[in-house]
Amino acid sequence: MLAKASLAYFLTTTHLPIMAEKLETLEDLFQEQLKDLYSAENQLLKAMPSMASEAKDQRLMQSLELHRQETENQVTRLEQIAQERSIDLGGHTCKAMQGLIAEGMETLSEDATDEVKDAALIASAQRIEHYEIAGYGTAAHYAERLGYDTAASLLRQTLQEEQNTDTKLNDLAKSYINQKAM
Ligand SMILES: [Fe+2]
Ligand SMILES: [Fe+2]
Repeated sequence: MLAKASLAYFLTTTHLPIMAEKLETLEDLFQEQLKDLYSAENQLLKAMPSMASEAKDQRLMQSLELHRQETENQVTRLEQIAQERSIDLGGHTCKAMQGLIAEGMETLSEDATDEVKDAALIASAQRIEHYEIAGYGTAAHYAERLGYDTAASLLRQTLQEEQNTDTKLNDLAKSYINQKAM
């Protein structure tokens, strides 16, 4: 188990800000999770066009473009929930998404063949989808537990889109893109 002293040490050595507000209830945690998702989705919206433009395979490019459009709706859904529940979504940066995008861009900037680049693009995109699936699964469950039916249903819609995207990327990789990269 992580001792409290070592957690404080971790926070100071990694320069992560210690949260000013105390989280006392599942409601507090729900709001924090929504802020994290909102930051993650907005970072993605900015990064997705450059990631999609690196795709050489037509079906991969189309899947990424479709998911960019879905991501716009996902941002709107989070805003709808925030409005309904009077939550301020600003002032938080999802550091995990910053890292996932940075790592994806780093891989794409390497000198690689088109085929390997497409496979790498799927690897990065699936990491991102898995992160989102974890976040939305948790947030949707919190919303259900708190009795927020509209929020739960909106979060489940997004979760379904993330899962569909992950499945589509997995199918592309396994049906021919990884084979072409060999
Ligand atoms: Fe998303
Ligand atoms: Fe996604």
